[in-house]
Amino acid sequence: MDNLQGFKRNAYCGEPRLSDAGKEYSVCGWVQRQRDLGQLIFVDLRDRTGILQLAFDDGTDREIFKKAFAVRSEYVLAAKGVLRERSSKNKDIPTGDVELFVTELRVLAAAETPPFEIVEDSDVNDVLRLKYRYLDLRRPDMQRQIALRHKVTMCTRRYFDEQGFYEIETPMLTKSTPEGARDYLVPSRVHQGKFYALPQSPQQYKQLLMLSGFDRYFQIARCFRDEDLRADRQPEFTQIDLEMSFVEVDDVIAVNEGFLKRVFGEVLGIDVPTPIRRMTWREAMDRFGSDKPDLRFGMELKNISDLVENCGFKVFTEPVAAGGSVRLINVTGGAEKFPRKQVDSLVEFVKTYGARGLAWVKLGKDGTSSSFAKFMSEDEMAAILARAGAETGDLVLIVADAKDETVFAALGALRCECARRLGLMDKNRYEFLWVTEFPMFEYSEEEGRYVAMHHPFTAPMDEDVDLLEKDKKNCRAKAYDIVLNGTEIGGGSIRISTPEMQETMFRALGFTEEDAMIRFGHLINAFKYGAPPHGGLAYGLDRLVMIMSGADTIRDVIAFPKVQNASEPMTGCPDVVDAKQLDELDIELAHPPEEE
Ligand code: AMO
Repeated sequence: MDNLQGFKRNAYCGEPRLSDAGKEYSVCGWVQRQRDLGQLIFVDLRDRTGILQLAFDDGTDREIFKKAFAVRSEYVLAAKGVLRERSSKNKDIPTGDVELFVTELRVLAAAETPPFEIVEDSDVNDVLRLKYRYLDLRRPDMQRQIALRHKVTMCTRRYFDEQGFYEIETPMLTKSTPEGARDYLVPSRVHQGKFYALPQSPQQYKQLLMLSGFDRYFQIARCFRDEDLRADRQPEFTQIDLEMSFVEVDDVIAVNEGFLKRVFGEVLGIDVPTPIRRMTWREAMDRFGSDKPDLRFGMELKNISDLVENCGFKVFTEPVAAGGSVRLINVTGGAEKFPRKQVDSLVEFVKTYGARGLAWVKLGKDGTSSSFAKFMSEDEMAAILARAGAETGDLVLIVADAKDETVFAALGALRCECARRLGLMDKNRYEFLWVTEFPMFEYSEEEGRYVAMHHPFTAPMDEDVDLLEKDKKNCRAKAYDIVLNGTEIGGGSIRISTPEMQETMFRALGFTEEDAMIRFGHLINAFKYGAPPHGGLAYGLDRLVMIMSGADTIRDVIAFPKVQNASEPMTGCPDVVDAKQLDELDIELAHPPEEE
């Protein structure tokens, strides 16, 4: 094997152009492929910028030619030579007009045949990709995505610095104070039987920094949440976290609109028109069945409860009588695009969201068909179609349920599913939206009580302060989410900043005074020493980069992510530890895992 001594790289593979012909280049990289044409050998050399063709022919020194003959895919090479015009050009790559006629070749490392080919958009299964993540990351699309992520983080740092924000780190080993998700716990060796928790977010620390007078804080912060994974969820993820003092909702929104404009402009060359539109949570639910509506397409929900409450169809009348609702969406042009089988699959689809079923009307060119027409008078049907705004060619989809939340969940998801099937989710469009005035509380069936919808430090709206304890259902918060193309890319709120209000909030959440003191005493005490009014927001950096790069999951924009079951196939974590390690922590396993 050769070494690098005395070799000085002077360019990346993706850089040379035809106008550089005649110049001497020294490049390094991995072999994409080697083609042996007898008298001629071509080696495509790849680095993070692209590919350069290395050429070896009659004029090549025989020792070098022999070396080139022996190289294989993914070998690591250093090559020096003279750039020349290619005889057969490759229009697909930026260096496709040129090749490097090699005068010095060093083989720096050999490589076994990789378990999958290192090419763009390979359809290798995820577990294999993640087991060999270091190879997967060599693929040009992964390289581009990680580079884009870097640009976003650097731009973030520049912007917030310019706006007077300090970057301050907060601890990773913290106190377990449930914020919503389950904590990851870390046992203490020094304090046996006691545990640290990894932070779900820097929420409490950033509020304390405001109390300390830092005025404006930001951090690219790692967060940990032990929850079920989805395409846009990882157990450890990264936030762009920020907090500001002496602000109201509009001030936080203004700084963040500046940020979004800057990052999309600088990284993608896309102008984000500001101010970004806003919608209250109530309006978002009513019109889109979702608190993160995708505004790239229409298909808004319409409430038809008043039209059907007295019809003869129990599937509609009973839910209305029980306090629920009947709502619909109109899929324009859906009659033809969704043949019967597809409609059946939509029925199954809404069931996964808890709906009992899906009623439909198809306004086909050659007549109307419907799953429920026989239970309706013609006038009733006509009124429904008029409310839907349906015309010939459309498909009307209706969900009825005794719980409004179920209707919203089912239709909100169905709206997106139909858009997906109709190809309306254009990745090159960016529709931003602020959703404001979130409810303060949501009812948790699991816990049988109201819990904070955002977190327990969120301030109620001034006009709803009295509702905190009296009418939890209708109490609204100074909380906002920033939504992009149907994904919640960030969320935040104005915080409670007086000890009295914080205590009221804990009481409203069902904590006894003692309980609240045990869990949140540090914050309650801190508020006694003069807290400025403050508020902030946190973006999910992974989600932001996912959308900006056109990736389908946040896994593709995280260098070393976890798979579905929260494990990492490459290192094999989580894993068992030595008995000695457990001993030091005074931990005994009730159910030791079986050896695999
Ligand atoms: P929240 O819990 O809404 O707010 O989180 C902020 C943003 O982080 C992203 N996010 C995630 N991304 C990937 N995987 C996850 N498991 C995950 N969970 C959340 C989302 C979300 O909008 N402390 C508050 C912020 C504040 O009030 O300032 C907080 O953490 O994009």
